[in-house]
Amino acid sequence: MEKYYITTPIYYVNDAPHIGHAYTNIVSDVIARFMRLENKEVLFLTGTDEHGQKIERTAQKNKIKIQDFVDQNTHKFRALVKLLSISNDDFIRTTELRHKNIVVSFWQKLVDSGNIYCDYYEGWYSVTDEAYYNESELKNGLAPTGSKVEFIKEPSYFFALSKWQDKLLDFYKKNPYFIYPNSKYNEVISFVKSGLQDLSVSRTTCNWGIKVPNDNEHTIYVWLDALINYISAIGYPNSEKYRNFWPANLHVVGKDIIIFHAVYWTAFLMAAELKLPKSIIAHGWWLNEGQKISKSIGNIIDPFKLAEEFDVEYIRYFLIREIKLGSDGNYSRDNLISRINNELINKIGNLVQRVVSFIYRNKAIITLLDDDIISNIYEYELIKNLVSFTAKLEKKIKRFEIHEILNYIVLFAQESNIFIEQEAPWVLKKTDPTKTLKILTVLLESIRYIAILLQPFIPCFAEKILDQIGVSKLHRKFQHLTKDYIIVPFYCNNSNTIEPKPIFIKINDVN
Ligand code: MSP
Repeated sequence: MEKYYITTPIYYVNDAPHIGHAYTNIVSDVIARFMRLENKEVLFLTGTDEHGQKIERTAQKNKIKIQDFVDQNTHKFRALVKLLSISNDDFIRTTELRHKNIVVSFWQKLVDSGNIYCDYYEGWYSVTDEAYYNESELKNGLAPTGSKVEFIKEPSYFFALSKWQDKLLDFYKKNPYFIYPNSKYNEVISFVKSGLQDLSVSRTTCNWGIKVPNDNEHTIYVWLDALINYISAIGYPNSEKYRNFWPANLHVVGKDIIIFHAVYWTAFLMAAELKLPKSIIAHGWWLNEGQKISKSIGNIIDPFKLAEEFDVEYIRYFLIREIKLGSDGNYSRDNLISRINNELINKIGNLVQRVVSFIYRNKAIITLLDDDIISNIYEYELIKNLVSFTAKLEKKIKRFEIHEILNYIVLFAQESNIFIEQEAPWVLKKTDPTKTLKILTVLLESIRYIAILLQPFIPCFAEKILDQIGVSKLHRKFQHLTKDYIIVPFYCNNSNTIEPKPIFIKINDVN
């Protein structure tokens, strides 16, 4: 079985989870589920980033022992993963021993290969971003992200990033699909072309982290520590998991941390002579009703609160549907409600409910079954469109066009609703029961395709639809999107015997 290793960034535990974290998780989860439906053996990793000055300071400000603080907060991220039905296989914390040991041995590897040396750092640091900035990058005395910076002057170990500049450029050139979307690929290349300086990879002013081997004065830079989670979680260098799953197929990250992954992590791996990840996606940022989400503005969207009001799968659907992967998006409660009501309920839900309840009410017709009916179904335009879309599915998944796949699903549901209106089975049944049966079979086939394709996005709802139309649990992968697995109304057991209830519930906007 082909292996597929996908990761989310590991989340800083200084804050409570918000909608941005939820989005990174959901995007990764949708892709992981797509890969499983393509019959790949998926390893899906997420976790928490628990070291560094930002966490040290926040815990101190809250007068909590740092270890207790991170223990408390990591649970919120675990709870988020559970809340959102994220199908991760592992959850790593950088304070775990399994991680710390590997960071130390990776560091040693960089030292032994002559990529780390000791010197003196003088420059600007943002604790919020846990990042170093050049004087020339600052705007009005702030980091390009708008975060505060402080001037630091301390002895430091450096990673010889500059010597990897040409190798990085050469690698990007040979791997044009390394970074998605293409605009970010170009940004990374111009960042590297503008010149790389060696990177400070230790701090003497931060205590909360992993100590540099044989030099207790220094703590390993939180980003070097954190990035190593992608290999520590799979037991680098000797485990079978590592041999099976490295290099990762995909790191999903937000656009703010693409440089850390596409430049620093890639160079660290090159220096340690490890294989490089196959691709990195940089997704966009969510704004709240047009405004940047920030604690100081007080407009943070809390996914736990959101889930009290809306079904979690409505949230999953909205977040993926609303923005193209890579672009920024605007969270708006009204948009969420109208997307759910207009698309999920009025198009998809309505289609399913009309068809299954018609079958239920017209049991007499559906006993008329003959093979000829089935073989003709694939001549219908509606089914032809689904088949030709399915033929392109693998390519679309490979290019991470998940947003577009969802667009098509909605379109197919809309076309199916038009088809019902045109064929009017409620009229036809009086004159031509055989054709009525044919029309119902076309519609069931369309619902079967739609529901199988919906699984990565809204897994529980998709399961309910597939159960309702009687698709075997063993026949729900993409390989089953062929005429061999067609469902005929006669076998649509649940709808024959149990009165079908609507799967989706409309949102009544009371606020
Ligand atoms: N700890 C680092 C990642 C280390 S990975 C080796 C980090 N953590 S974070 O908690 O600040 O961010 C985690 C993810 O959430 C990032 O991918 C980031 O882009 C994403 N988001 C944070 N706010 C966001 C929005 N408002 N919108 C969308 N995603 C954003 O960075």
